[in-house]
Amino acid sequence: MTIASLSTYVPPRVLTNADLEKLVDTSNEWILQRTGIHERHIVDPGVTTSDLAKEAATEAISRAGLTPDDIGLIVVGTVTPDMLFPSTACLLQNKIGASRAWGFDLSAACSAFTYSLTTATQIVAAGGTDHALVVGADVMSSIIDYRDRTTCVLFGDGAGAVVVSAADSQSANVILDFEHEIDGSGSHALFMPAGGSARPASHETVDQRMHYVKQDGGTVFKFAVRKTEEVARRLLERNGLTPESLDLFVSHQANRRIIMSATEKLGVPQEKVIINIERFGNTTAATIPLALNDAMLSGRLKKGNLVLLASVGAGFTVGAVLLRWGI
Ligand code: ACO
Repeated sequence: MTIASLSTYVPPRVLTNADLEKLVDTSNEWILQRTGIHERHIVDPGVTTSDLAKEAATEAISRAGLTPDDIGLIVVGTVTPDMLFPSTACLLQNKIGASRAWGFDLSAACSAFTYSLTTATQIVAAGGTDHALVVGADVMSSIIDYRDRTTCVLFGDGAGAVVVSAADSQSANVILDFEHEIDGSGSHALFMPAGGSARPASHETVDQRMHYVKQDGGTVFKFAVRKTEEVARRLLERNGLTPESLDLFVSHQANRRIIMSATEKLGVPQEKVIINIERFGNTTAATIPLALNDAMLSGRLKKGNLVLLASVGAGFTVGAVLLRWGI
C-alpha cells in the first residue's frame, strides 16, 4: 500500500490570541508559553466538517491522478460530524460524487487520523478496494465554549485527506506497521457531556453548557506525554529501529510542550520533529495531515523517508503508524 497523495484545507478566517484576549481572561503570552499556539483558523457560521473535508478530498483525489469514481472506500475521522447521522462519509461521498464508494465515520478524537489510516490500509491490503480516501476533519469551533479559557485557546478547525492505494511493485509496503490502544478509564478527562444517549439535548443541558468540550488538562497532558513516548518506542523496537533512524516524527499537535517532552524522552533529535501548532492550534483529526503537508512544503519530508506518526486523544485513544513516505 502506498499514500498516493495528500491535501489539506483550513477555513480562511483566523482567530488570533489577541482576538481571544477580548473574549476571555487570557493573554497572548500565556497561550504562547503554555501551548505554543499563536493563531488558529475557524469556520464562518454554517460551514460544516463535510465542507472542509470536501476541499481536502477533492484535491487529494486529483493529486493522485484519480477521479472520485476511482475511490472505493471513504473513512472520515472526526469528532464533529455534520450531524449524528447520516455519517459525514455519506455526506462527503455525495458532495464529491464518489459514485462507487462505501464508507463510514471513525470516532477516535485526536487519534482519528492514525486510526482511519490504519483501517483503510487494512481494507486495501485485504483487496477490498484499490483506492481508499482517508480524511481527518473537524470543526472544533462548533463544540468549543468561547467562555471557557482553559479550552477555547487550544482548538482550531481544519481538514486533511490522503488517498491510500494498492501498489503493485515490491516496494509496495509503504505503511509498515502500527500500534494502537484505547483506555476508557480516561473517558472523563476529555469529553462532551451531552447530546448522546447518556444525556440527550434538553433545555437543562443547554443551560448548563454541556454541549461543549470539558477537559481536565493536567491529566490529559501527563497521559499524552507518557503514551506518545511509550507507543512510539514499542513500534520502533518491534521493527528493529532506533529513534535516530527516523527521518521525521509527526506527533498530533495538541500542545508544543507535550510534543517537546515526549520526543525528548524518546530521544528523537529535535530537527526531526515537526511542530506547526503555532498556526493551526489543535485541529483534532486534521493535525497530522496538516503537519505532513507543512513538512512536504518546507522540504523536510521527501519520498522514501521513514516517518513515525503518533497521537493521543480523548477516550483515551493512542495511536502510532510507521511508514515510508511514498509521494
Ligand atoms: N489563560 C490564562 N490562564 C489560564 C488559561 C488561559 N487560557 N487557562 C488556564 N489558565 C490558568 C489556570 O486557571 C491556572 O490558574 P490557577 O493556578 O490560578 O488555578 C493556571 O493557568 C495554570 O493552569 P494549568 O491547567 O496548570 O496550566 P497548564 O500549564 O497545565 O496548561 C493546558 C493548561 C494548556 C490545558 C495543558 O494542561 C494542556 O495542554 N493539556 C493537554 C490537553 C490537550 O491538549 N487537550 C487537547 C486534546 S487531547 C490531546 O490531543 C492530547
